[in-house]
Amino acid sequence: MDDLAAAWSTLEVAAQADRAVRIEDRFKAEAARMGRLTLDAAGLGIDLSKQAWSLAGLDAALALAKAAGLDDARRRLFGGEAINTSEGRPALHMALRAPATATFMAQGKSVMADVEAMRQRMAGFANGIRSGQIAAVDGAPFTSILHIGIGGSDLGPRLLWDGLKPLKPQIGVRFLANVDGGDFAQAAAELDPARTLVIVVSKTFTTQETLANATAARAWLAAAVGEAGVSKHLAAVSTALDKTAAFGVADARVFGFWDWVGGRYSLWSSVSLSCAIALGWEVFSQFLAGAAAMDEHFQTAPFERNAPVLLALAQIYNRNGLGRGARSVVPYAYRLRRLPAFLQQLEMESNGKSIGLDGARVGHATAPVVFGGEGSNVQHAYFQAMHQGTDIVPTEFVAMAATDEGPGGMHDKLLSNVLAQAEALMVGRKNPPRAPRTFDGDRPSGLILLPRLDPHSLGALITLYEHKTFVEGVVWGINSFDQWGVELGKEMANAILEDLVGRGSKPHDPSTAALINRLKN
Ligand code: F6P
Repeated sequence: MDDLAAAWSTLEVAAQADRAVRIEDRFKAEAARMGRLTLDAAGLGIDLSKQAWSLAGLDAALALAKAAGLDDARRRLFGGEAINTSEGRPALHMALRAPATATFMAQGKSVMADVEAMRQRMAGFANGIRSGQIAAVDGAPFTSILHIGIGGSDLGPRLLWDGLKPLKPQIGVRFLANVDGGDFAQAAAELDPARTLVIVVSKTFTTQETLANATAARAWLAAAVGEAGVSKHLAAVSTALDKTAAFGVADARVFGFWDWVGGRYSLWSSVSLSCAIALGWEVFSQFLAGAAAMDEHFQTAPFERNAPVLLALAQIYNRNGLGRGARSVVPYAYRLRRLPAFLQQLEMESNGKSIGLDGARVGHATAPVVFGGEGSNVQHAYFQAMHQGTDIVPTEFVAMAATDEGPGGMHDKLLSNVLAQAEALMVGRKNPPRAPRTFDGDRPSGLILLPRLDPHSLGALITLYEHKTFVEGVVWGINSFDQWGVELGKEMANAILEDLVGRGSKPHDPSTAALINRLKN
């Protein structure tokens, strides 16, 4: 048995042994538990002491990370090597948030000059729009942005905007992702085209949903400001500059990025141009600085005190040691309510893989199903099953220690709920008055505590999750930076569209063929 196989087997044995002891009983048995499983990283407080593992289990997980080559993989990630092997590209999104003096290289070529030049262009454009120097065709300032994009070109900027938007923004951002006339019609009804800047965001500039919305938005603009005025109301973000030109966006209004930035890791780039404009460049810069602080932590902290590493290992322990097939993420913060949706793409698109880096099927489970919602709302929805259901689903709580928003006393109530849920999941209820009130407890959870929700802490939080996802990919032996599984659906949708609108007639399975017929008629 090689070192890696031996480390997997030690983890499985430790997890089996851990099943026999309740989580709450470990605190007495393990004097070092709180010290080893609580830590601070880039301003965030992390508590993994209510997770299912014993300290022996933690040590087995740390040994697994080492045996899987995490040290070397992290060096190759930050060194700009082509770790996305199926596409032959680095994954160097860390360069986008690094200070201009950093020395990131993509496959041996320095990238910081290009990154900094793009940041300067973004800042200039953002400042110009905010000051009114770059104005609508009638010379008046823009008051709204329509951000068109999907997946990685939508979820990150949406989370950023919701997280940090002012209560009364000078410029509002409306996101449009779905190829659904209902969403487009709603956006068009909400916005005044004469005061709106449309930003089309697509890494590839081939995505069906985005191009359909962009074409419709262009026509919507033209009807209001005239064909000649459209260019003043349009900008694009992409790596495919030939395609943005073909769509009719002037080069001066195109903000590029690079193929070493994956879609779901792109919110640090010009993909967040809408947010950089509407939040202001200073806020966006602080967001990048928070991310850079977490990069620094991930690179320098020893594995046993490294937040992304420990978060990943807790999940690996639950997933592979204990067979938990799902993970629930619950931000107790209205402004972070889109975090579960963002993490679904980050974790499930990155690590929802069954073929390993060596081309063979992996021998263990990979990304669990990630779901969640805003606390405390979810307590009144799916949490019944979390407490008493037959499946044990580990939960990750995210909370803010303090906030300046809202009436006094409200935040304490929110915090009391998140702490109560974590305690109730672990402790359960003994000696219930009646059988249906039995709570077994012993259900694991973790907590991430932001001092408050500000640009720095949000940048650090998202980066924590990015590196957690990377660590899991390394231990699972998969490429976290491609997404071939999404391609088949895209290809088939294009083929079925041909059949639906009457020009094509491809063979389909009987169910799909019947549905196409029904819809055509
Ligand atoms: O969902 C699949 C995907 O390829 C994602 O990886 C990507 O974030 C999204 O589509 C949008 O792609 P693009 O930015 O190229 O329009």
